[in-house]
Amino acid sequence: MYAVEVDNLTKIYGKGETAVTALQDADFKVKRGELVAILGPSGSGKTTLLTCIGLINEPTHGKVVIDGITVADEGWQGGIDLKRMRREKLGFIFQAHNLIPFLTAQENVMVALEINGLKRFEAKQRSVELLDALNLGHRVNNYPSALSGGESQRVAIARALANRPRVILADEPTAALDTENGRNVMDLLKKLAVENNSAIMVVTHDHRMVENFDRILEVSDGRIVAEKSNV
Ligand SMILES: Nc1ncnc2c1ncn2[C@@H]1O[C@H](COP(=O)(O)OP(=O)(O)OP(=O)(O)O)[C@@H](O)[C@H]1O
Ligand SMILES: [Mg+2]
Repeated sequence: MYAVEVDNLTKIYGKGETAVTALQDADFKVKRGELVAILGPSGSGKTTLLTCIGLINEPTHGKVVIDGITVADEGWQGGIDLKRMRREKLGFIFQAHNLIPFLTAQENVMVALEINGLKRFEAKQRSVELLDALNLGHRVNNYPSALSGGESQRVAIARALANRPRVILADEPTAALDTENGRNVMDLLKKLAVENNSAIMVVTHDHRMVENFDRILEVSDGRIVAEKSNV
């Protein structure tokens, strides 16, 4: 079974003369534990692809299947609880880490766990374990304003991974980081993909990053124009 399947996925923003086809007929499958890069120039449709798979953006045409569940087929499928799917199956990491400023590093991770029904003491325990694994054990009680860019991004990663999502979607997660922190974040994503058997899709502009991935999808003008495999 695949973690992600898309079939003729198309996204058109707007209607009539101002309509923009941001994504056209995307077709691919991603296995559990697979690390996929999405490369392409600005405006080519990378974020659109990620947000359609992430159930944030309703596809205009085509199919999105997450962990065997068809969530969109010519628009959202009826009877699917999108919020719950997002919460339970998906983890997001964005370029801006979007941490909640008035919560500590640990509390930022706990929120994601408690929303999914974990008891407070369990959430406490798991959030500390996660932050420890990301070398942030000494930062659990710090507020985001007291963290470096790389540290904040690692907290955001801990939060995205907290519920062991089947699919992790990252939109330029290393763009705001220097080379070393960028590399650390990528190493970590790789390790966690394997450990949790999660599929990870990472949008990046950076061609130097490609060696990190099992597969590379190149997007141009809303179409997937090339697919390369590193394995
Ligand atoms: N909400 C929207 N409404 C209308 N057009 C949009 C919307 N979001 C994106 N677009 C258009 O869709 C196309 C693809 O945008 P998208 O954000 O997916 O590109 P991208 O590859 O992520 O670019 P970047 O590398 O700059 O982030 C662009 O032409 C963009 O202007
Ligand atoms: Mg984008």
